[in-house]
Amino acid sequence: MFIDRAGQGEALAAVEGGPAAADPLAAGLAVGAPAALAALVGESAAMAGVRAALAQVAPTEAPVLLTGPSGSGKELAARAVHALSPRAEGPFIALNCGAVPRELLESELFGHERGAFTGAQSVRVGRFEAAEGGTLFLDEIGDMPLDAQTRLLRVLQSGEFTTVGGADARRADVRVVSATNKHLAALVGDGRFREDLFYRLAVVPIHLPPLRERREDVPELARLFLERAPAHGLPRRRLAADAETVLQRHDWPGNVRELENLMRRLAALARDDVLDAAVVEAALAGAAPAGPPAPMPGETLAQAFDRHLAALFARHGAALPPDGLWDRLMEELEPVALARALDATAGNQLRAARLLGFNRNTLRKKLNERGVDPHRPLE
Ligand SMILES: Nc1ncnc2c1ncn2[C@@H]1O[C@H](COP(=O)(O)OP(=O)(O)OP(=O)(O)O)[C@@H](O)[C@H]1O
Ligand SMILES: [Mg+2]
Repeated sequence: MFIDRAGQGEALAAVEGGPAAADPLAAGLAVGAPAALAALVGESAAMAGVRAALAQVAPTEAPVLLTGPSGSGKELAARAVHALSPRAEGPFIALNCGAVPRELLESELFGHERGAFTGAQSVRVGRFEAAEGGTLFLDEIGDMPLDAQTRLLRVLQSGEFTTVGGADARRADVRVVSATNKHLAALVGDGRFREDLFYRLAVVPIHLPPLRERREDVPELARLFLERAPAHGLPRRRLAADAETVLQRHDWPGNVRELENLMRRLAALARDDVLDAAVVEAALAGAAPAGPPAPMPGETLAQAFDRHLAALFARHGAALPPDGLWDRLMEELEPVALARALDATAGNQLRAARLLGFNRNTLRKKLNERGVDPHRPLE
């Protein structure tokens, strides 16, 4: 079983073993694997250390616990572990433990039989089964309720699971990578997280530091996100040297995700191709950078939308924006509506779901999909 093949001491020693084995090519990994590491951009010593640790632990079966604040790159790191592992050809299945209603979490994890509980009208394949031969990414593991923790621990100990309502034990051929932005050890101290499970999951802990602790990574990341803007249907822009200095001074409470969003916003809204310090400062201060016409008083939503689309098409001149426009529009619009509805209902998800006309599970699914944190501070 996956835990036992790589004991704690062994795996930790591997990570601390120095950079010699950090070269994935030298380690004989699959073609394409180095790309997974290179996706984690940043020349800081901290990021180099993260990449080395990921490269060394990935080929083992050891469970990895990724810690770090929101937007620091935990999911990207989890994908790198998978891509660099012998399981790379198998599935990578993610489950956000904080986004699933507690009463459904076990059935999400292990699946259920028909009639296992009220509402279980058909058989459901759980994430453990879906991840067979691959990697199961348990995100926001700190939000897992205690009863589900107990069940997960049993599975990790025995290497077998049973579906909810099922009798037969099935082998769990899964490598578990988990992530949390909480201080798990503190949750253990408070009795909210099982200590034994913590040690099982955190055989190899890897920490993604907040961006403000690796400011030297900021310019390269900013340039990367600007280079990617055209793939999102946005114009190509570049940063003036003084703008990079402004970005480096910012504290980035939302970490890399905040930087990515800012760069997209600037790519979309700035007037000039070169982003200077003033434009970046204005964007950081929350002021709309100069560019598109301000909303007209009395404008309807349809008119505003049309104005936005007209500007988008105009930016592409004779060419068309990349295909998949509808999904990109929804990707931009849905989080706005979700966040507004949560703010308007003081974070009451049941009420927000009713307001939007969804049931609560649909709301949770959408929040998860769109990366809207229902517990984020209200505006
Ligand atoms: N080092 C990096 N290089 C390039 N892109 C990065 C890096 N770190 C994060 N990103 C990008 O920033 C965004 C946020 O990263 P990710 O989703 O991995 O963060 P997270 O730690 O899982 O956040 P959360 O806790 O909010 O789920 C993603 O779009 C990711 O691709
Ligand atoms: Mg994440």
